[in-house]
Amino acid sequence: MAHSKLRYIFLPILGALCVYIIMHILILSKGHFVFKEDHRDFLQLPEIDCRQNPPFLVLLVTSSHGEVPARMAIRQTWGGASVVEGRQIKTFFLLGATATQRDMTAVSQEGQRHGDIIQKDFVDVYANLTLKTMMGMEWVHHFCPQAAFVMKTDSDMFVNVYYLTQLLLKKNRTTRFFTGAIKTNGFPIRDKSSKWFVSEDEYPWDRYPPFCSGTGYVFSSDVASLVYNVSESIPFIRLEDVFVGLCLAKLNIKPEKLHSEQTFFSFGLRFSTCRFKNIVTCHFIKPPTLLLYWYALENSRGEECPDV
Ligand SMILES: *[C@@H]1O[C@H](CO)[C@@H](O)[C@H](O)[C@H]1NC(C)=O
Ligand SMILES: *[C@@H]1O[C@H](CO)[C@@H](O)[C@H](O)[C@H]1NC(C)=O
Ligand SMILES: *[C@@H]1O[C@H](CO)[C@@H](O)[C@H](O)[C@H]1NC(C)=O
Repeated sequence: MAHSKLRYIFLPILGALCVYIIMHILILSKGHFVFKEDHRDFLQLPEIDCRQNPPFLVLLVTSSHGEVPARMAIRQTWGGASVVEGRQIKTFFLLGATATQRDMTAVSQEGQRHGDIIQKDFVDVYANLTLKTMMGMEWVHHFCPQAAFVMKTDSDMFVNVYYLTQLLLKKNRTTRFFTGAIKTNGFPIRDKSSKWFVSEDEYPWDRYPPFCSGTGYVFSSDVASLVYNVSESIPFIRLEDVFVGLCLAKLNIKPEKLHSEQTFFSFGLRFSTCRFKNIVTCHFIKPPTLLLYWYALENSRGEECPDV
């Protein structure tokens, strides 16, 4: 009698347990399936699980296929810094597609070796830089909204990730934050021979909203989703930094200074260890120069610098 009563209690419990375990396995494997297969048209995705291990700062570097020496130099210098002030930093390169299969294979092998390439299938030319930047915004939106901050920079830059991290921690902003070398009163250049030529068809107005130089700007990660979302309603302009500025204007986000002193330089600077310890970006740096500057800085750790 007691025996059969127990059966009435245990069988339903056992059944429920089985259903629970099977559903769990299904959900887990479905999650796995989605994570592995949902590439959203990306040709390459980097090796990172932002949900498990959210980075403090993600650096997205626009780069093209031929710039292997620049990518190698960046991996050996600022792009190789993985922990700064106890925070996780990750550097990824943004690439499009080239015409030749040989280049595509080389980039795919490079991505497999280093796990740091984000690539989509658009023609990789200067005129498509806005598409490249929007690919970065889309990647953050879909795959890494857990990051605290994102930086977009170029492959001919010096980036002081240590000073940048210190300043971001001090600034203590979490949302709707955007900073860099701020350009106010910018206007379209109508001279056809200029690299920055913009036709009246492309942009009929005679002023740009405030924007930050594409050589290096930094934002709280929520801005990536906001910009990605609003970008479809903004007229396309080839200058990616101006395009992002137009998105920010629409979102009513104003670029802000990171520090009272200028720290983002969209031009070149004469090198000294003390100067480069207190800047975030410097432009026009060739790979061998980047390596030289970096080792000079590493070797000057204990050096006293005048207050800035
Ligand atoms: C930019 O990429 C798109 C998509 O691949 C392509 O159709 C377009 O021609 C490219 N632009 C230029 C200027 O090559
Ligand atoms: C950072 O800001 C938050 C509010 O957004 C505040 O609670 C916290 O104390 C601040 N931390 C520092 C170090 O200023
Ligand atoms: C995206 O933009 C649409 C309007 O274009 C807006 O309704 C929606 O709230 C936005 N979503 C986010 C997450 O900002």
